[in-house]
Amino acid sequence: MRNFLSVKDAGNINSLVKLATNFRQNPLSQQSLGSGKRIGLIFLNPSMRTRLSTQIAAQNLGMEAIVFNGSQDGWSLEFEDGAVMNGSSVEHIRDAAPILGRYFDILGIRTFPSLKNREEDYSESVMKQFVNYAGIPVISLESATVHPLQSLTDIITITDNLPIQNKTKPKVVLSWAPHVKPLPQCVANSFSEWITTWNECDFVIAHPKGYELAGQFTKGALVTNDHAQALKDADFVYVKNWSSYADYGQIPGNSNDWMLTLDKLAVTNNAKIMHCLPVRRNVELSDEVLDSSNSIVTEQAANRVWAAQAVLSQILNNIK
Ligand code: CP
Repeated sequence: MRNFLSVKDAGNINSLVKLATNFRQNPLSQQSLGSGKRIGLIFLNPSMRTRLSTQIAAQNLGMEAIVFNGSQDGWSLEFEDGAVMNGSSVEHIRDAAPILGRYFDILGIRTFPSLKNREEDYSESVMKQFVNYAGIPVISLESATVHPLQSLTDIITITDNLPIQNKTKPKVVLSWAPHVKPLPQCVANSFSEWITTWNECDFVIAHPKGYELAGQFTKGALVTNDHAQALKDADFVYVKNWSSYADYGQIPGNSNDWMLTLDKLAVTNNAKIMHCLPVRRNVELSDEVLDSSNSIVTEQAANRVWAAQAVLSQILNNIK
């Protein structure tokens, strides 16, 4: 593995899941793998789980991890080629990224989409420029369109909680939820792409009209606007808000009745409830769902460490 930017870099997903669960059993089993190596974790947007879990994972592998809150502490970056920089941007990515490439052995980048210019966001130009100009392996800590470390974590968590009864494939439902502001499509895109690539679940995406995801991420998924029908017999319900892709970055319609409540879960197969967090309580999910024994959101977030450690170890093996 050179970079980790999407499911295309994952190789065999089950092997990566096994590696992650091995690290969970023995976190310090490869404590010298990253000795003398340094990872830079550059955050252009806020984070709690990604920031902390990746630092812990790096330290478990003997690496030094340095976090840089680029959006708060760094110079504002320019990403446009040929820009006349007489505005608010102070430093071009062409100048900044090669320096990061000299300071670090691996770079982790978090950047969000603008939600204003779909073509630009979906070209992943920010992440691509870090990759092109840094010259060292890059890990996505969430980009404009995907969140691969989260998706690997999600598959680890589903694997841990597979129903015991004799079913060929568990039913996994990605259930759109309301929110107070427009959010990126990254987590939903990425989860859909990973689950359909993994191909070990019956996968349904349920959302109100107007929230269709980009087709490139949903091939192989059943998509419906019927929430109750989607939830029927579900083994896992992954709750997530995203803004419109078609009417880019907008929140079409009033869909507050899509909040997941305990009564809606009655038709499921005692489904486990997932969310990447942070979550808006009593907007996306009710308290009673989040606080129920079916909620596995804390376990899911805890698995972020092992997903990051599996990915980092694969990249370290490649650059040793
Ligand atoms: N799920 C997730 O990426 O959380 P943070 O934004 O806190 O990193």
